[in-house]
Amino acid sequence: MSDSIILGIESSCDDTSAAIIKGNCILSNIAANQAIHKEYGGVVPELASRAHQQNIIPVVEKSITKANIQQNAISAIGFTRGPGLLGSLLVGTSFAKSLAMSLNVPLIEVNHLQAHILAHFIDDANPMPPQFPFLCLTVSGGHTMIVLVKDYFDMEIIGKTIDDAAGEAFDKIGKIFDLDYPAGPIIDRLAKEGNPDAFTFNKPRMENYDYSFSGIKTSVLYFIQKEVRKNPDFIKENLNDLCASVQRTIIEILMAKLEKAAKELNIKEVAIAGGVSANSALRKVMEDNHEKLGWNIYIPKFEYTTDNAAMIAMVAQLKFERGEFTDLRTSATAKYDL
Ligand code: KG4
Ligand code: ZN
Repeated sequence: MSDSIILGIESSCDDTSAAIIKGNCILSNIAANQAIHKEYGGVVPELASRAHQQNIIPVVEKSITKANIQQNAISAIGFTRGPGLLGSLLVGTSFAKSLAMSLNVPLIEVNHLQAHILAHFIDDANPMPPQFPFLCLTVSGGHTMIVLVKDYFDMEIIGKTIDDAAGEAFDKIGKIFDLDYPAGPIIDRLAKEGNPDAFTFNKPRMENYDYSFSGIKTSVLYFIQKEVRKNPDFIKENLNDLCASVQRTIIEILMAKLEKAAKELNIKEVAIAGGVSANSALRKVMEDNHEKLGWNIYIPKFEYTTDNAAMIAMVAQLKFERGEFTDLRTSATAKYDL
C-alpha cells in the first residue's frame, strides 16, 4: 500500500468526523457527537445538518493538528457521498469539494456501508486482515445485512432486513423502556446485570438470509403495556432483565442467519461491522463461534464500529491507489447501493 496521506470526512448521520490516514495507518480520527438529539429521542435531520455546519471546520482542523502534518501533505480528500441523511451528507460533501479545489488534490467519494466493512483493513483494526471471500454482518442504526465480500470493491448483499435495522430495534425498544437515545449502548450496559432468559419475545420467520425486526419491537411494546397495567413500576423493577432478554433475542436473530450463511456458503472468515458491532454480547457470541465453529473472526476495534472518518479515509486510500477519483460536480446521495 502506498504511503499517501489522505483526509477522510464523514457526515452521513449525527457524527461529524475527520481522520487522517497514511497508507493504512490512522494518524488521527476525530469526531464531534451531537448531544442535541437526546432531547428528541432520535436524530432530527434539520438539527443534524446545522450541527455538522458548526462542527466541520474545528473537527477537520483538529484531525490535521493531531496527525501532526501540514495541510499541503494531503494527497486527496475522501468523503461520505451516501447513504445517509441528505442534509447531513451535503455539509461534508460541499466541504470536501471546496477543500479539494483549494488544495488542488483529487476528490474521492466513499460509500458509507463499504466503509464500515473495509474498516477491517485499517492496520490496527485486526492482527490479520480478513481473507477474501468473507462474510460481514453489517449492523447499524440504518442497515442490517449480510454481505459476501469477494474483493475490496466486489460485495454482494445476500440478506437484509425488510423493515427495521437491528440498531433501530435497540433504539426503539429503548424508547419503550424510557432510555435515552441512542439506547443500544445503554441496553448493552444494563444487560450485563440482567438475566437474558427472564423474558421471551417472538422471533420472526424469514426466508433465506433476510431479517425482520419490527415484530420484536411490537412484541415488547404489547408485553410492556400489559405488565404496566398490572404494575406501574414493572419496567423499573425489571429493567436489567428486560434489556438482557431483548439483547439476547436480537443477537439470536442476527446470528442464526449469519451461521446459516457461513455453513451453506462454506465460509469460515466472518466479520461484523457497524454501530451494533460494538455490542459486547454480540462480540462474545462471535468469539464463541471461533471456538465452536472454527470461524476466523474479525471484530472491529471499538472506535471503528460506530460512525467514524477513519473508515472513510481507509476506503479513500484504496480508491486512491486505483486512481478512482470523483468529479468535483458530484453531489451527495441519500441512497447509494453497495
Ligand atoms: O453505524 P452507526 O454509528 O450509525 C449508522 O450508520 O446507523 O450505528 C448506530 C447504531 C445505533 O442504533 C446504536 O444504538 C447502535 O448502533 N449501537 C449499539 C451499541 N453501540 C451502538 N447497539 C447495541 N449495543 C451497543 N453497544
Ligand atoms: Zn454507519
